[in-house]
Amino acid sequence: MKANLFCRRLRVVLATAVTTLCCSTGNPQRSPVAATPPMGWNSWNHFAETIDDATVRAQADAMVSSGMRDAGYVYINIDDTWEGARDAKGEIQTNQKFPDMKALADYVHGKGLKLGIYSSPGPKTCAGYEGSYGHEEQDAQTYAKWGIDYLKYDLCSFHEKMKEAGSPEAGHNLMLGAYRKMHAAILKTGRPMVFSLCQYGADHVWEWGASVGGNLWRTTDDISDNYDRMSVIGFQQAGLAKFAGPGHWNDPDMLEVGNGKMKPDEYRTHMALWALLAAPLLAGNDLTTMSPETIAILTNRAVIAIDQDRLGKQGDRVWAQGSQEIWVRELDGAAKAVGIFNRFDWPQVIEIDWGKLGIKSGSKARDVWTGKDLEALSAKYAAQVPGHGVLLLRLTQ
Ligand code: GAL
Repeated sequence: MKANLFCRRLRVVLATAVTTLCCSTGNPQRSPVAATPPMGWNSWNHFAETIDDATVRAQADAMVSSGMRDAGYVYINIDDTWEGARDAKGEIQTNQKFPDMKALADYVHGKGLKLGIYSSPGPKTCAGYEGSYGHEEQDAQTYAKWGIDYLKYDLCSFHEKMKEAGSPEAGHNLMLGAYRKMHAAILKTGRPMVFSLCQYGADHVWEWGASVGGNLWRTTDDISDNYDRMSVIGFQQAGLAKFAGPGHWNDPDMLEVGNGKMKPDEYRTHMALWALLAAPLLAGNDLTTMSPETIAILTNRAVIAIDQDRLGKQGDRVWAQGSQEIWVRELDGAAKAVGIFNRFDWPQVIEIDWGKLGIKSGSKARDVWTGKDLEALSAKYAAQVPGHGVLLLRLTQ
C-alpha cells in the first residue's frame, strides 16, 4: 500500500519535472524530423519564377538516376511562385504552373522522395504571390492534404506588419508569434513536416529559432553563384555552432554547386564548408544537366558523412591568419573533420601546428576528396591548398 502511494507520488514528481524542463528550455513539441541536417533540392537558385510541375517531376527523376537519392538527398522543395488565388472558402489554390499538387506529391513520394513547399507569414510572398497571413491553419491543413513534408516560411511582406507594430520590440514579438502560429498549425495536422524559417538571419534568429518550432533557420541573406558571396556567407558562420543540434540547424542558404559560375575548387570549398557547418544540403542546380564533376561533388559519400554525422555538432573556425583558415568539426567515434581553407585565388602552402589546434600528432588522416590516406600526422604539416580551395581531412585516432 505504502509502496503504491510512493510510486504514485514519484510519478507526479517526475511528470512535473519533465513538464518544467520542457517549458523552461522553451523548446516546443516538434515533429520527429531533421535529426540530421535536411538534404534535398530546392527550385529557387536555378529556376526562380520559372518552376513548374513538369520541371519538378524531371528533378525528382534526376535525383534518382544521378544517384543523389541513394547518397541521402530526400526533399524536392518547390520555392516561391506555385501559389494561386484563394477559393470562396479561403482555401489556397495552385496557379496554372501546378495543375495538381496532390498528384505531384504522389509522384515524388513514389520515387522514395519527399515534397516541400513555400509560403510567407505575410499577405504576399517575396515574389508577390499569395502568403498565409490569416490562413495559417487552413494552409497547413491544405499542405497536409496534398502530402507536403517540408515548409519554408519566408518573412517577406510580414515585415510591413512588424513596422506597423509601433516599436522594434513589438515587431520582433509579432514575428515570433507568426512563426509559432504556423508551427502550431503544422503540429495540429499530425503530419510530420520540416519547418524552415527564412527571415535572413535578423534579430539573432539562432537564439530563438528552435523555441518557435524551427528545424532550421536561415542565418543570412540570399546566396548567389559566385565565390565572393558564397565564401562571405560560409566563413561568417563562425561562432554559431552552439545554437545547432539534432532537429534544429543553422541554415547558411541553399547550395550553388553545379550552377556554373564557380570553379570546381570553389564548389568543393562550398560543399566542404557546408558539411563542416552541419548545414542543410539543398542542391540548387538543374539536376537533369549535371556534369560528372558536379555529381561527384554533390554525392561524395565521405563529405556527406561529415555533414550528416549523428552527433550533430556543428564545426567552427579554430585558426585564421590572413586568407588562411582552419575549421574543425567533432564527429562521432572521437573522429574529427578538418578543413584547411585558402581564400586567396592562387595556391598557398598552409603551415599547420597540430598541437596548437588541440590535435594529437600520430592521428590517422584521410583526404576526403581523393579518398587517399595521408601519412600519420607529425607535429607540423605543410598543406598545399589550391586557390579558393580546401584540403578536407578526416582524422581518426
Ligand atoms: C527570398 C528567399 C529566397 C527565395 C525567394 C523567393 O526572400 O531568401 O531563398 O525563397 O525569397 O521569392
